[in-house]
Amino acid sequence: MKKDMFQGAKIISTGSSIPYAKVSNEQISSVVETSDEWIFTRTGIKERRLLTQYGQSIVELASEASIKAIEQISMDPKNIDLLILATSSPNDLFGSASKIQYVIGATNALAFDLTAACSGFVVSLVTAFQFIRNGSYKNILIIGADVLSKWVDWSDRSTCILFGDAAGAVILQSCDVSFNSILNFHLKTDGKYANYLSIAYKENFDPHPVLKLYQGSFQYISMNGKEVYKFAVSQVPLSILTCLHQANLSIKDVDWLLLHQANERILMAVADKLSISSDKIISNLGQYGNTSAASIPLALHEAVQVHRIVANDIVVIAGFGAGLTWGSVVLRW
Ligand code: UT7
Repeated sequence: MKKDMFQGAKIISTGSSIPYAKVSNEQISSVVETSDEWIFTRTGIKERRLLTQYGQSIVELASEASIKAIEQISMDPKNIDLLILATSSPNDLFGSASKIQYVIGATNALAFDLTAACSGFVVSLVTAFQFIRNGSYKNILIIGADVLSKWVDWSDRSTCILFGDAAGAVILQSCDVSFNSILNFHLKTDGKYANYLSIAYKENFDPHPVLKLYQGSFQYISMNGKEVYKFAVSQVPLSILTCLHQANLSIKDVDWLLLHQANERILMAVADKLSISSDKIISNLGQYGNTSAASIPLALHEAVQVHRIVANDIVVIAGFGAGLTWGSVVLRW
């Protein structure tokens, strides 16, 4: 990150939304051959929320999270200049952000989707920061939301145990550079390993009879869990160290480690590699599972609500997942 900033940015509000239906490991065990014991010891997950109502999509979840963030600071939604929806599970391939813009009444906001899988919220936060830093926008709503339950193969026990549905939102506002709270960021992609985690588009075998072009459809989630695990545990600590170092901070300065909630063992292994005490890890995996782009803003909202994260705390957030993509942001709360 270059130091020649024009405007600072601050997260001034957070919100979240989870579906009503709670599904326990025992219930999952009636769908595939697994057990509460296996799921809990391998992942730390006890239950997850799934969007089960007919006709509901990411739009309802993301809108609710956004409205909570807006109402918390009594903001007029017309003052939002930009809405970024981080998701890999829109209800429309052209994007769901504009539908959310309409539902919440953010009529003056440009709205677009950003796809970077489980790193989506981190990439969106950094993207929003650029618009604020250069003075283009003042108020930006960033939503991380996913309903991967719609893309999970519910007969594949290696993936279906992991995911849950949720949405989290934050409002980033410009401020004087001396109050800037985004101290640094570090983002990476390695497309060589894209096939480790994907929702791939597959073409039909037979082409169109006249035009000779191929059409197809998207498949279910496929994942090489072991490789994704190894990637996360090796790359995320390096990213965090780089990010802290460039901001002239050290591990000792970190108050909270808020990683993408993929697996409790990953959270512990990353903290261990960084010599960060486990009581500084923010984790809500047990209740929600891996909610992809929603996991960081959901956990952030909860930690702020219960005053775990308080003013001036140094919070390191890091996302990782399909792409492969990963990255970290250091925040002063
Ligand atoms: O958000 C995106 C990022 N994604 C991730 O971070 C996922 C990272 N990976 C993981 O979290 C872990 O790899 C998993 C939780 C997905 C799997 O844990 P693992 O310790 O890597 O298990 P494994 O895939 O090596 O499987 C071990 C054994 C296998 O049996 P054998 O071959 O040893 O006989 C699997 O067939 O466990 C079996 N197994 C299961 N058994 C009961 C796999 N899934 C299940 C299951 N229940 N649900």
